Amino acid sequence: MRIILMGPPGAGKGTQAKRLVDKFGMAHLSSGDIFRAEKAGGSALGQKLAEYMNAGQLVPDEIVVEIMAKAITSCDSPAGLLLDGFPRTVAQAEALDAQLDQAGKSLDGVVVITADEDEIVERITGRRSCSDCGKVYHVKYLRPQNDNLCDKCNVQLVQRADDTEGVIRQRLAAYNLQTEPVIAYYRGRPNVQTLFVNGTQPPDNVTADLVQGLEQLKTEM
Ligand code: AP5
Repeated sequence: MRIILMGPPGAGKGTQAKRLVDKFGMAHLSSGDIFRAEKAGGSALGQKLAEYMNAGQLVPDEIVVEIMAKAITSCDSPAGLLLDGFPRTVAQAEALDAQLDQAGKSLDGVVVITADEDEIVERITGRRSCSDCGKVYHVKYLRPQNDNLCDKCNVQLVQRADDTEGVIRQRLAAYNLQTEPVIAYYRGRPNVQTLFVNGTQPPDNVTADLVQGLEQLKTEM
C-alpha cells in the first residue's frame, strides 16, 4: 500500500503513523521529522527550514519537493509507504504524481484524520516528545509512566519550538488555506480511495478505525 496520511496539526498523524507501521509494516516518511532532524543538525538548509517552521508557515514547495523526492526514492519498499505530512500543497501533490508515474508506481489511498480547532490547540500545547526516540506523549491524554521521562529511554521529554498557541493558529491557517485543497485534488480519482477518520476519539479508537479502513482498502486493491 502507498498511502498519504493527512489532517490538521495535532490531529494525531504522528501518533497513528507509528501504530499503522507496526501493524502493516510499510515504511514511514514524515516530512516534519525529516525537517526537524535537518534543523537539529544545524546545517544551512536546517536554518532555512527553521525560519519557516518556527513561524508556523509552510516551507516553500521547491525545497520540500527536492528533500522528499530523495527520501521517497530511498525509502519506497515492497511493503509499501506511509507519507505523513507530504504532500501539503497541490504543487507538491503534482510533483509526487510525476515522481510516481516516472517510477511506474501509484498511490492507493489518502487517509484524513479530522479534529476540531479547540481540541487541536489543547493537544499541541500539551504535547511532549522524547528527544532520543521521538515517542510522542501528552501531559493529560498520553502521560509517561514517570513524570516527564520517556517510558522507553528514560530521558527528559521536550516541547517542540513550534508548539506555542500563536504558532499553532498560524499552522492551522496554513492547513486550511494551502493543504485542504489537496484533499479535493485526490478525491474522485478512480484508483485512489479517500478515507476520513474521526480523530477526536480516544487514540485506540482512532487506530481501530484506521486499521479497519486500511484492511478494507487492501482487499479492494
Ligand atoms: P509536522 O511535523 O508535519 O507537523 P503538523 O502537521 O503540524 O502535525 P503535528 O506533528 O503537529 O501533529 P500530528 O498530527 O502528528 O499529531 P500528534 O500525533 O503529534 O510539520 C511541522 C512543520 O514542518 C510545518 O508547520 C511546516 O513548517 C513544515 N512542513 C512539514 N511538512 C511540510 C510540507 N510538506 N510542506 C511544507 N512545509 C512542511 O498528536 C498531537 C498531540 O495530541 C500529542 O501530544 C498526542 O499525544 C496527542 N494525541 C494524539 N492523538 C490523540 C487522541 N486521539 N486523543 C487525545 N490526544 C491525542
